[in-house]
Amino acid sequence: MDKVPDDIKSYMMEAYQLASRWSLPNNRGDHTNSKSIPLKSVAVIGGGTMGRGIAMAFCMAEFETILVELNDQLEITYAREKSFKRLKDSKIEKLRKNLQITTDFQKLQNCDLVGSSKYDVPCYEQVQIVEAVFEEMKLKKELFTKLDGICKTSCIFGTNTSSLDLDDMSSVLQNPTKVVGIHFFNPANLIKMVEVIYGSHTSSEAVATAFEACRAIKKLPILVGNCPAFVFNRLLGVYLNQSQKLMYEYGYLPHQVDKIVTSFGFLMGPLTVADMNGLDVMEKLKSENGWPASDFEKEVWTQKRYGRKRDAINFLLYPMMNEGLLCIEEGIIDHESLIDIMFILGFGWPVATGGPMNFGRQQGIEKVANTLIFWSSLEPENRIYQVAQTLRKVNKKHFSSKL
Ligand code: NAI
Repeated sequence: MDKVPDDIKSYMMEAYQLASRWSLPNNRGDHTNSKSIPLKSVAVIGGGTMGRGIAMAFCMAEFETILVELNDQLEITYAREKSFKRLKDSKIEKLRKNLQITTDFQKLQNCDLVGSSKYDVPCYEQVQIVEAVFEEMKLKKELFTKLDGICKTSCIFGTNTSSLDLDDMSSVLQNPTKVVGIHFFNPANLIKMVEVIYGSHTSSEAVATAFEACRAIKKLPILVGNCPAFVFNRLLGVYLNQSQKLMYEYGYLPHQVDKIVTSFGFLMGPLTVADMNGLDVMEKLKSENGWPASDFEKEVWTQKRYGRKRDAINFLLYPMMNEGLLCIEEGIIDHESLIDIMFILGFGWPVATGGPMNFGRQQGIEKVANTLIFWSSLEPENRIYQVAQTLRKVNKKHFSSKL
């Protein structure tokens, strides 16, 4: 890894501290006056790619952890983690012993609320739920309706949704203030960053509890507002779209796009990332939010098209800075440094460049502004080139904005 410059180190330290000083808008509460509920047990609903990792993270941190799953595939995850030398046999044994898995959802409904054994579901008084079922609003609403009938009123409902509207999701509950987004990153047992999302009704207690839970499993929580795809996936979506465009409009081959990005310092290229996260996730995300699929997604790029030669790294990354500025202008997140730390911790962004926003600043905000304005003039209908006010306001000098 490149040596991290001192100014980037202090920039990151400040962002860490900033992240802990969260506050909800309109005096709805902040880190100084909001208490988390005491957390003893955590229930994770859905043991797929994400739920397994989330359950492992809580279990390793000594929480009483219950995983509710229709198909138990934990052994596959253990084997994979072992093959990557990320889990030793002793830790796998601990997980096998301590992680309570049920495939029978009905068990939760029939539990005895005064039971005292270690893993009694009655700990629901203090249980926090993190759902990680498929990215489908209908399913998540059905699940919350069901849980509302089972859990104690004090129970906080966390959702690992990567894009869906929290207000819509919480509308099925008697008390929508207890729903908070707790958006983990894949693999959830390893990545050190979590987006905590507040909706119009989310209580500061729910946010404080989500923060406490994240800290207990040694992850950095960052508070963001509710909008389609939130902050991280908004920027990521732009980046993945740009990487596909490099292929189908400018003739790059997939490995060439990945090479450009790994040469910049990333551990992995965008196409490998898309592959690992699962194209099905993106498909669900797009269809649930009514976003159109790109040509690439429709036909997974069947023909080569060679276009102009471009400075491909800027092509991929400048629109991300723009999207980050739009998030700030919309009040979804407060500071550029929080977005940066999100991508450094959550995406393996090369730390020496300080994250997407800092990278743009270092490149020169006027250069980014002029480039974006030029691209937007070429494709005025393209939402990705909808230029943030912050960039529009920048004094336009005579930069060459062509790639
Ligand atoms: P997945 O398809 O791997 O797992 C979903 C699991 O939920 C499956 O194992 C399924 O059997 C289970 N399930 C479905 N309905 C259920 C029910 N009623 N009760 C109990 N279990 C049920 O999906 P994945 O990728 O783990 O995604 C889950 C959630 O996490 C989605 O909301 C997704 O948007 C979000 N997410 C996914 C990320 C990724 O990289 N895959 C990253 C961050 C968030």
